[in-house]
Amino acid sequence: MNSVGSLQMNNKVEIPRLALGTYATSNEEISNVIETALSVGYRHLDCAWIYGNEKGIGDGLTNQLKKGEIKRTDVFITGKLWCSFFKTERVRQQCIKSINDLQCQYLDLFLIHWPFAFIDQDPNKNEENKFIVADDVDFVDTWKAMEALVDEGLVKSIGVSNFTEEQLERVLNMCKYKPVVNQVEIHPYCPQIELEKFCKKHDIILEAYAPLGAKERPWKTKDDPEVLEDKTIKSLADKYHVHPAAILLHYIIDRDIVCVVKSASPQRIKDNFDLFQGHPFKLSQEDFDTIHKEIKTRFRYYIMSDGAKAKEYPFKEWKNFVSKD
Ligand SMILES: NC(=O)c1ccc[n+]([C@@H]2O[C@H](COP(=O)([O-])OP(=O)(O)OC[C@H]3O[C@@H](n4cnc5c(N)ncnc54)[C@H](OP(=O)(O)O)[C@@H]3O)[C@@H](O)[C@H]2O)c1
Repeated sequence: MNSVGSLQMNNKVEIPRLALGTYATSNEEISNVIETALSVGYRHLDCAWIYGNEKGIGDGLTNQLKKGEIKRTDVFITGKLWCSFFKTERVRQQCIKSINDLQCQYLDLFLIHWPFAFIDQDPNKNEENKFIVADDVDFVDTWKAMEALVDEGLVKSIGVSNFTEEQLERVLNMCKYKPVVNQVEIHPYCPQIELEKFCKKHDIILEAYAPLGAKERPWKTKDDPEVLEDKTIKSLADKYHVHPAAILLHYIIDRDIVCVVKSASPQRIKDNFDLFQGHPFKLSQEDFDTIHKEIKTRFRYYIMSDGAKAKEYPFKEWKNFVSKD
């Protein structure tokens, strides 16, 4: 079986460089998707309670393990703590719920999904007040509860998602265990160069979500720029005779960032995996310079407007900008 390779995290545990994203695929559909991805060779599943499909993922994982070709320890499973469950007593409950639904005995990695809290309720059971920000739980207190999960053996590693440099500093200044990763949006419209330097300095691995521009996001508007359609990306795709998606994935792979990419199509699941097998090409420094010089658009596909009033909302300084060039 081919391997996608791995990076070593600051707790000496290896993390596979490619993860299958699981957002926007229903419980009914995802079980087959997981079986396909695991048989193709994926060994890292990026899951989250808020995606509402952890039971389906667990079914797919269980079916695949029953075939006997892989063991639980061959697969790296990430879960995420949703903003509604930041209180200490809820962190453990939610972790156990995800472990049970995913049918996986333990999580390899558990992330704080966003750096701010919502009121403690199941957002799916209260559509009207689905996303209400409560600012009275600080993520550093949540972090202590996350560390207790490591001590108890429920999770092997803990990390964060959507954290800024300042927010990471706050955790670094109080932690017993450093966050091993920070999972954030990364693509040429949101390059994250400064955050990348900060994370390297502190031995925190960056994970890239939405590397292809998350085209299934339900909130997309007709004026949004689509990074898969970008003319600079397309011209690099012509240069290397590949699909623009391959350029966008290399934009992540060639920076030693863990790539979290979603596909529910058997062909694209395989195409994306194949890019990690002895790359037929690598983006050169010149290609990176071209991307960073020519592309002026700055755009986040996930801005989480419901969290914007939170004190710790991470993108307060960010302004989407669409270049007319
Ligand atoms: N931590 C966070 O806050 C956060 C936020 C957002 C996402 N995430 C994670 O990151 C994952 C990836 O992000 P995402 O799902 O938003 O978007 P994405 O991976 O950038 O894009 C997924 C879309 O690209 C299509 N696609 C996949 N491979 C392709 C290829 N080779 N060529 C052309 N199109 C291709 C998929 O369609 P098909 O399925 O039809 O192939 C799907 O529509 C999520 O699933 C989730 O696990 C985390």
